[in-house]
Amino acid sequence: MKSRIPFLLSILFVSINTAYAGIQEKSKTTCCLPPVNTHPENWKNSEIANLLKKGKVVSIRSMREHLHSLGKKAEFDGKVFIVEFDNGLKAVFKSFSKDDLEDAYAEVAAYQASIALGFPNVPPTIMTEINGMKGSLQLFVETNIDALDPGIYETALKETSLEDKANLKLFYFVFGQWDSGAHNTLIFKDKVKTYLIAIDNSGIRNHQFVKYGSLPFVRLCYSDSLQTNDWHKPFPFNEAKVIQNPTSEKLKKILGNNFPESFYQSFKSYGYPFRYVIYRNSLWRQFHAGDEKFVVSFTNHLSDQTRKKLKSLNLARLKKIFACAKNADFLTPAYLNAILDRRNQVLQYFDKQSASDKGEF
Ligand SMILES: Nc1ncnc2c1ncn2[C@@H]1O[C@H](COP(=O)(O)OP(=O)(O)OP(=O)(O)O)[C@@H](O)[C@H]1O
Ligand SMILES: [Mg+2]
Repeated sequence: MKSRIPFLLSILFVSINTAYAGIQEKSKTTCCLPPVNTHPENWKNSEIANLLKKGKVVSIRSMREHLHSLGKKAEFDGKVFIVEFDNGLKAVFKSFSKDDLEDAYAEVAAYQASIALGFPNVPPTIMTEINGMKGSLQLFVETNIDALDPGIYETALKETSLEDKANLKLFYFVFGQWDSGAHNTLIFKDKVKTYLIAIDNSGIRNHQFVKYGSLPFVRLCYSDSLQTNDWHKPFPFNEAKVIQNPTSEKLKKILGNNFPESFYQSFKSYGYPFRYVIYRNSLWRQFHAGDEKFVVSFTNHLSDQTRKKLKSLNLARLKKIFACAKNADFLTPAYLNAILDRRNQVLQYFDKQSASDKGEF
């Protein structure tokens, strides 16, 4: 009997170990499965945002390194990280300095707008703080194609339904996301359809003037010394000026000392002429002017459902959408009214279209 004790003990040891390894294997496979359906069709479900808020960070890596390790291109300037949580979710953290969180508020508001409208596909986004850094946190979208590879974005546009594409452009126009294009789009495909995912929506914070069908003029800089005295005048769309082959030096020579040195130093031409207007003591730049490949946020398609959603926008609903940004400098009455003005431009355009279809003109 005595001699059998070590034998029984060793069997017990082996079986405990096997059981433990089994548990470990099981938790390995279940820990990494997201605890919630993360498909774009489920992004309106508030559970995802709740889990992003509650999750504990288990790893944080530079997005640039992550993209390069997958052979993807990294075309962005900000401090962007990919974060993994203990609940299995992955997210993109964009860190901003504590006194300039306006971009982060705009990102969150863009997600809220997508919920209010029912379009476009903006991954769930919240405000957060990680390791003492503040910023926006957005659900990470796993994609196996790179929108920046030649021809991929154009093909995806063709594959996307007319309705989805039109709604994306209407969102861009009405909410003022001027920084659109392949570099701020993810392409997600499932067995049924191709989804265009709108990321990096911070451009919606910028004040701008635009006519439906054209590129917006986006406010870059304000300077009292300009003394334009034109508050009572409409935006001078027809008085835009162009600087060919712009450089920081050329801009400084033409625009003078009205703007800070940091503005000239951070200037990027993107390889296109610099088209601008000086109005209301500010410099307004028409981004993408001269880029014939740029897809303008304009569509001839408006479904009844989208018309209803756009009509339902009013100041109260916009204030709710921008609730997270209530202390932001950009959130002025003029900013909110400009969104409603752009919405009105769209509705008027389509009203005219249907009137002319009926032969009323
Ligand atoms: N939700 C997301 N899911 C997956 N990848 C993402 C997501 N958001 C951003 N990325 C990746 O991170 C990159 C940088 O993000 P983003 O464009 O928002 O940064 P940015 O620094 O604000 O850009 P920019 O320089 O254009 O202002 C994107 O090009 C994309 O590859
Ligand atoms: Mg970007």
